[in-house]
Amino acid sequence: MLNIALIGFGYWGPNVARNIHANPNLNLHTICDIKIDRLEKAKTIYIAQTNYEIDYKKLLDNSDINAIAIAVETSGHYNLVKEALLAGKHVYVEKPFTSTVAEAKELEELANKLGLTVHVDHIMIFHPVIKKIKSLIEAGELGDILFIDAMRMNLGQIKKDVSAMWDLAVHDLSIIDYLMDGKEPFYISSVGEKYYNPKESLCFLTLRYEGFISHIQSSWISPLKERKLIVAGTKKMVVFDDMKVSEKLMIYDKGVNVISGENAEYNDYAVKTRDGDVWIPYIKQEDALYNSINHFRECIEQNKQSISNPNQAIRLLKILELADEKMNK
Ligand SMILES: NC(=O)c1ccc[n+]([C@@H]2O[C@H](COP(=O)([O-])OP(=O)(O)OC[C@H]3O[C@@H](n4cnc5c(N)ncnc54)[C@H](O)[C@@H]3O)[C@@H](O)[C@H]2O)c1
Repeated sequence: MLNIALIGFGYWGPNVARNIHANPNLNLHTICDIKIDRLEKAKTIYIAQTNYEIDYKKLLDNSDINAIAIAVETSGHYNLVKEALLAGKHVYVEKPFTSTVAEAKELEELANKLGLTVHVDHIMIFHPVIKKIKSLIEAGELGDILFIDAMRMNLGQIKKDVSAMWDLAVHDLSIIDYLMDGKEPFYISSVGEKYYNPKESLCFLTLRYEGFISHIQSSWISPLKERKLIVAGTKKMVVFDDMKVSEKLMIYDKGVNVISGENAEYNDYAVKTRDGDVWIPYIKQEDALYNSINHFRECIEQNKQSISNPNQAIRLLKILELADEKMNK
């Protein structure tokens, strides 16, 4: 049984703790937070079932602990990941991996040198609906992909150390990376505004990939909460609405047909839209965070690379860094 200690029990840390605790093959060894009130909160949930610690260095010195899960603010990731690796621990870290590509590359090299697993929680690629969309693409059901549009907006939680793009669009970039087998864009454009924050709280990112284009909207100042993804292919189009409780994925047999030659009524060719059936496939409910953490466990036990490894994170961070440059020009 692997012993995992969690650093950071703020907004997201409790979800990580719950899913480690729920895994019969993992032991939530210790919860650590520098804030006493957060530790007190954790104690009301786990009582004597785990240990509590205010100083993360004590976790690094404890040889019973095999792995560290990091759920602190993004600006704190790099130092903690580095220290945990140097202490010989496997690392699970929240997205975005680090604040720069250079930091990510350094950590990737360090993990490889030490033979330790680093898993970045790109949670969406462990979501059952995203896995279903991937299987539809691989089976050729959607045809050639034309565009991928994503919307991730809500009111708050406005962060100080990252922009809405680094916080939210990173999910959509990880989805595109996963669905399109690590394809990288050859053109990036972005605009954003720094409302209420030293970093952008409203961002629009446009990407051109070989064969398809993508538009990603990220916002912390929207009256509505939206989590929507459209993947449009030449044969079928799918819409994933993560705000729905059930029936999150709709498959549309809709598209555009180009009719040429003698069959075109008036001209050389005709372009006609095609409206067909709509399906709602059955998808077994699974917790994406549980899947992500369980994948981390399997990678450690089987000594294999996570599908959400630093290299994947670097591909996403490269896009975010370039988008920042464009935004600030
Ligand atoms: N995967 C997801 O869908 C998802 C969702 C939300 C947040 N996140 C990520 O989770 C991370 C945390 O976000 P949050 O919203 O919970 O932040 P938060 O500010 O609410 O919580 C961070 C906690 O970490 C603690 N902390 C910071 N440095 C520490 C240290 N050195 N030692 C011990 N404790 C320390 C703080 O006291 C705080 O309680 C971020 O990287 C964020 O991007 C991921």
